[in-house]
Amino acid sequence: MRWLVDWGDVMGARRLIPVDNTHCLLPVPNQMARGASPHTLERYVAGLREACLHHTAPGCYCTLHTAFVTMEALDVPENDPEQVRLQQQLAEMATAAGFIPTFTCAPYLVGNVPLKGEVCAWTESSAVVYANSILGARTTRHGTESALAASLVGLVPEFGVLLEENRKGTLRIEVRAELEDPTDWGALGYWAGKLAGLGIPVFNGVRRPNQDEAKQLCAALATSGGVTMCHIAGVTPEAPTLDAAFHGDVPEDYFPFTAVTLQETYESLRNASGDEIDSVILGCPHASIREIAEIASLLQGRRVAPGVRLWVDAARATKGGADAMGYTSIIEEAGGRILCDTCPTNLRIPARRIVTHGFKQAHYARGMVGAEVIVAKTEACIRAAIAGRWLGD
Ligand code: F3S
Repeated sequence: MRWLVDWGDVMGARRLIPVDNTHCLLPVPNQMARGASPHTLERYVAGLREACLHHTAPGCYCTLHTAFVTMEALDVPENDPEQVRLQQQLAEMATAAGFIPTFTCAPYLVGNVPLKGEVCAWTESSAVVYANSILGARTTRHGTESALAASLVGLVPEFGVLLEENRKGTLRIEVRAELEDPTDWGALGYWAGKLAGLGIPVFNGVRRPNQDEAKQLCAALATSGGVTMCHIAGVTPEAPTLDAAFHGDVPEDYFPFTAVTLQETYESLRNASGDEIDSVILGCPHASIREIAEIASLLQGRRVAPGVRLWVDAARATKGGADAMGYTSIIEEAGGRILCDTCPTNLRIPARRIVTHGFKQAHYARGMVGAEVIVAKTEACIRAAIAGRWLGD
């Protein structure tokens, strides 16, 4: 309660309000914490354990974000056994405390789908943008401590986009390019996030995205910028029109997103110095069953090139569906794998050159993994995986 009150004070909140939907980060630190003293790490994990000794607030729907290890595929070389053991312990405690062990960055794909206007406390910047913009729910950007505290206490400080007046669009973007693929939507988000900073971009002139396209848009917006929400005129539940997105105050000035801008944005995340590749990473944010079906159909009867790691990141619940549908075995027979609970960026895989369909993955792979990257549509990624080298779009 003290954390929530102190945070609210800093952010100018006047009161705490009830929250009944949270998405929490409960990670045992990994390489991120290298350099931290053992004492610091022990205290950190002890704090998470202590939180799990309490129970989530009555009626609060609490899901869990990705971990820094995979708890299922223990042959993954980057998995630190000690970290896995601690994470498994913590997962058991969290489950007993009422947290649903989804371990995903896309909780809306596995059952956590808040309604319009529902007050939430979510970690994971891409999911925050999705909740606010696609579902019309309301959540500020949470960190580990605040989301855990909100889950246990059932309250959040009311500030930012929890308040109607702070959900007004700040930046008008006219979309002139044809967006044909989820990665195209990622390009739009990556470009707009840089422009918007902490603002609320409003997209006009664009068709309704499907779930995968919306996922890429929202993830990229929160990668290049600090965006908490956007409006898509005619799609965002509270923005049936451009006028509604700007609360009746539509700016005349706008930024056009053209076919040229689209191509330039792809090029901005292609820094490979050669064609050979060692990793193809799909499912950032975690893949939907529809994306896995597409990947399986592109891989059917083919083989990933020797030495290339093809990973599809997904929630366990989604993988369960993929297992039942036969997609997992097709991907595995081709030499790929579906990775659950985490993702290569969290694992810090030692990749040198990554091809990915996610702008977020490409952005962070450069900085956090230190790899060269090529961002491309799924089909081009799979062709590269089979050839062992980048073949172009
Ligand atoms: Fe999820 Fe990892 Fe991307 S946590 S959003 S797959 S960087």
